[in-house]
Amino acid sequence: MGISVTARLARAEDLDVLVHLYRRLEAEMVAIHPMWPRADGLEEPVERSLLARIDDSVSRLYLGEVDGYPLGFIYGRSETLLAHEGNTRIAAIRLVFVEEEARGVGVGEIMRDTLMDDFRGLGHELFDAHVLPGHRLAKNFFEAGGFSARSIVMHHSDRPDGGRRIGATFRSTR
Ligand SMILES: CC(C)(COP(=O)(O)OP(=O)(O)OC[C@H]1O[C@@H](n2cnc3c(N)ncnc32)[C@H](O)[C@@H]1OP(=O)(O)O)[C@@H](O)C(=O)NCCC(=O)NCCS
Repeated sequence: MGISVTARLARAEDLDVLVHLYRRLEAEMVAIHPMWPRADGLEEPVERSLLARIDDSVSRLYLGEVDGYPLGFIYGRSETLLAHEGNTRIAAIRLVFVEEEARGVGVGEIMRDTLMDDFRGLGHELFDAHVLPGHRLAKNFFEAGGFSARSIVMHHSDRPDGGRRIGATFRSTR
C-alpha cells in the first residue's frame, strides 16, 4: 500500500510541532547564512509569531503530513506591490520545510501547490518564494513548481564577524 501525502491548514493545537519544525529549518538555514534568523525567519518569540499567523487573514500556514503525521510546514502571506500597482497583491512563500527523512516524496510539493491554490482562490496570480542563494535544494524545488529567480539580496557587514551572529539578544520568557 502506498503512503498518503497530504496538506492541511495548521491550527493553534499544532503549535508545538510548528515550533519544532521551525527550529529545524532555522538550524539548516543558519548553516547556510547566519543572517537568516535575524532577517528572514520569524520574530521571536516564534510561538507568538506562529499563533499570530494562524489567526491572520492574509497569512496561510499549512502542515504537510505523511500518513497523517506532520513532517513539514509552509508559510505564505499576501503582500502588496508598490502603490502605483493599485490593489495588485502577491503571495509570498516565506518559509517551507520538510523533515530530512521525509524529503523527495512530495510533501513539499503538496504543501506548495495547496498554498498556491488557496491564494489563487483569494484572487492572487503572482507568487514569490524566498530562498537563500546557493541553496540548490530549495531552488530546484521551486523551479519544479514553475518559479524562476527574479532577485537576490547582497549583504555586507562592518562587524568583525562578517555578519555572523555575535550573540542573540532574545531571551525566551517561557
Ligand atoms: C525544499 C524542500 C521543502 C522540498 O521538500 P520535499 O518534500 O523534499 O520536495 P518534494 O518531494 O515535494 O519535491 C518536489 C519537487 O522538487 C524537486 N526536488 C525536491 N528535492 C530535490 C532534490 N534533492 N534534488 C532535485 N530536485 C528536487 C523535484 O523536482 C521534485 O519533483 P519530483 O519529485 O517530481 O522530482 C525541502 O528540501 C526542505 O525542507 N529543504 C530545507 C528547507 C529550505 O530550504 N527551505 C527554503 C527556504 S525557507
